[in-house]
Amino acid sequence: MSRPRFTLDGVPVEFDEGQTLIEAARAAHTYIPFLCAHPDFPAHGSCRVCTVLVNGRPMAACTTRAAAGLTVESQTPSLHADRQALVQMLLVEGNHFCPGCEKSGGCTLQTLGTDLGVTSAGFAHESPQRPVDASHPDLLLDFNRCILCELCVRASADVDHKHVFALSGRGLHKHLIVNAESGRLADTGMSVDDVAARVCPVGVILKKRVGFSTPIGQRPHDVAPPRTQVEGKEEP
Ligand code: FES
Repeated sequence: MSRPRFTLDGVPVEFDEGQTLIEAARAAHTYIPFLCAHPDFPAHGSCRVCTVLVNGRPMAACTTRAAAGLTVESQTPSLHADRQALVQMLLVEGNHFCPGCEKSGGCTLQTLGTDLGVTSAGFAHESPQRPVDASHPDLLLDFNRCILCELCVRASADVDHKHVFALSGRGLHKHLIVNAESGRLADTGMSVDDVAARVCPVGVILKKRVGFSTPIGQRPHDVAPPRTQVEGKEEP
């Protein structure tokens, strides 16, 4: 029996019941830009970078279920401009200094910006005052780079079963916190081997003593950026 299909940018894509648009596209080796989505976790739908037009209406591809007969557009000039603006807003909302960041070359926000052709901040920098937590013997937290994807929150709660992280506040005041009375990572049960320690898509959770050990050109996104991981081929 043939599988149901929708069209993605004019190309038929087969899917399994229950798959989201981004999951079906990924299974078909078709890249839809994303940031907060992670294949190992349920979709969160917070960044909106994956927004596509579904029968002409904007919907998040990571939270919208595929359905037979849908017409999905993911590559219009307007969507591209919106994605560029979203990346720019994230960049100015925090303190992102890529040349001095250990995650450079493995940061999904950085790679997405490069992929989308983001060459300027586009908005005024907010330059927030955010702390760095170096209390843990093996891990460093730099809250300046948090994009509120909640991947560490979910990994720590759902996989590591430790609830080390949480989000606090609302709206513009929402921010990542450490679940300890002191607020320090050293006072939690966090281990360098936890899934939460390696799931951060940006440079908030960093392992100590390994920064910059991988040369430029051999870093994770130099070798296999998200686009090529999905498309199943390496860049030329
Ligand atoms: Fe879909 Fe972030 S990747 S909302």
